Amino acid sequence: MIKKFDIPKNEAAENEDEFAFVERLVGTGESDEDREVEAGLRPQNLDEYIGQEKAKENLKIYIEAAKLRGESLDHVLLYGPPGLGKTTLAGIIANEMGVNIRVTSGPAIEKQGDLAAMLTNLAEGDVLFIDEIHRLSRNIEEILYPAMEDYALDWIVGKGPAARSIRIPLPRFTLIGATTRAGQLTTPLRDRFGVLLKLELYNTDELATIVGRSAGILGIDITSDGMREIARRSRGTPRVANRLLKRVRDFAQVKGDGRIDKDIADRALRMLEIDELGLDNTDRRMLEAIVKLYDGGPVGLETLAATIGEEAVTIEDVYEPYLMQIGFLSRTPRGRCVTRPACEHLGLSFKRRTPSRADEDQLSLDVFAEDEDK
Ligand code: ADE
Repeated sequence: MIKKFDIPKNEAAENEDEFAFVERLVGTGESDEDREVEAGLRPQNLDEYIGQEKAKENLKIYIEAAKLRGESLDHVLLYGPPGLGKTTLAGIIANEMGVNIRVTSGPAIEKQGDLAAMLTNLAEGDVLFIDEIHRLSRNIEEILYPAMEDYALDWIVGKGPAARSIRIPLPRFTLIGATTRAGQLTTPLRDRFGVLLKLELYNTDELATIVGRSAGILGIDITSDGMREIARRSRGTPRVANRLLKRVRDFAQVKGDGRIDKDIADRALRMLEIDELGLDNTDRRMLEAIVKLYDGGPVGLETLAATIGEEAVTIEDVYEPYLMQIGFLSRTPRGRCVTRPACEHLGLSFKRRTPSRADEDQLSLDVFAEDEDK
């Protein structure tokens, strides 16, 4: 039996730093409005879920095998940029397994007792979904090790010399962790996940299908050209695509007859200052800063963040994945560089900075260090 899941409001988004990118129309952070709309648009099973073919293919096998053996699914780590559907996929996994899902996030778990309470309330086979799992504090993470490995909770009772540890058995549950930064997970935690799935940015065809599906559910009249136009400008991210669809619908209702075609989509997105490739003011400001202030780079991440007044993690998680995917930005050991196509897109002249003597010395040190690593 497939149960319809409704993911409760993610407590992580209550954190202030989450709001850093909520205001940005093409930002991939989740706003309250997104949450409401996404709840209605979420696919409920793997067949409805568009894209991420590799991850889906693997998951189907693991789910079927676990069901055939009558066991719970192994712990799953989902990683990749924000807005790609990690929470959605966790819900689908629970649905396909026919179990309940409990949703929380790394920053929302403040005390060991919070996690202990969640774990002891799970039923056999249930899914515990921890979003932003890289933000769990170390002492809380330690509770997870025996829970994941032995399905047991090691709990200290008493204090000082009288303290002792008791072992409480837990049901065989599945932990699904989601993170934008798999590299920040500690090795003991990462090693306890049996299934690691990387989510990739979506291509235009997949996003156009997602826009068409969402339009169908929301009762929006849209042509295939209209779908493609929104898809092309959604920076590979379904959350952005669904948000743009709603804004374009507003425009179509006020400035047209409610129907979204290519022209209406283009005019609406232009008004929102989202360009042909889906870049907004922040992307342009960042690329221009690298070109104009740092001769096209390389410039260190922290320096760049300070220059444009953004958090370094936001630049890394939110802006960079798409800019790198379209070949506008490269990451080198010495910092970020803007590419020739990016300059052409922005109408700026491309300068490859002549390396200084200090750069060349550093470069040969870097190459030497890489060779040493081999
Ligand atoms: N809505 C958001 N992501 C989706 C996906 N991958 N498939 C279908 N609908 C979606």
